[in-house]
Amino acid sequence: MAFTVAIDGPAAAGKGTVSRAVAETFGFAHLDTGLLYRATGRRTLDGTDPIDAARALTAADLEADDLRTPEVAQAASRVAAIAEVRAALMDFQRAFARRAGGAVLDGRDIGTVICPEAEVKLYVTASDDVRAQRRLAELLKTGHETDYDTVLEDLRNRDARDSARIDAPLKPAKDAVVLDTSKMSIEEAVAAAEREIRAAMR
Ligand code: DC
Repeated sequence: MAFTVAIDGPAAAGKGTVSRAVAETFGFAHLDTGLLYRATGRRTLDGTDPIDAARALTAADLEADDLRTPEVAQAASRVAAIAEVRAALMDFQRAFARRAGGAVLDGRDIGTVICPEAEVKLYVTASDDVRAQRRLAELLKTGHETDYDTVLEDLRNRDARDSARIDAPLKPAKDAVVLDTSKMSIEEAVAAAEREIRAAMR
């Protein structure tokens, strides 16, 4: 039976952490859809056309170890504004969302465009300051040299571009439950998400 949990929100709001945790709890498959755009964006850094890159994407591209860099994040946000790129990645995401056994997808347009019929829709957000602090800690831990102001600017740039685009902009679905994690621990955010999922399962 299909059961889809759609988790959208701005960069570094905690979507990934919450998604991985609830997928584990409920035994659902998890797809970080940002990786599709990151892998596409990464290919364009070598000069590949973004639409060709999206159409030629393979599972191996999603395994590349440099998809988490700020440079790739910006490239992802740029290619994500191209309608043909989004169209090329759509069928895969939709099939994943409705696979048997349940699925959690996190991204920007899962509840609005990819799977408007999702049983659970969450919009995970947090203040700019909290998101920048979290992303900074993550980047420093993985050996990147950066600072708070650079990270904050990067997040704000991406959010502005992701929200302003015409095709599938970042915004909560009308029926999404908004989870502001600014003052929550990881455990509290995960518990809140799990409550919503349990309620929808009943
Ligand atoms: O979630 P992330 O930071 O890895 O996503 C990288 C970029 O990809 C993000 O800035 C916008 C784009 N993206 C998108 O447009 N739609 C999605 N469903 C997921 C990501």
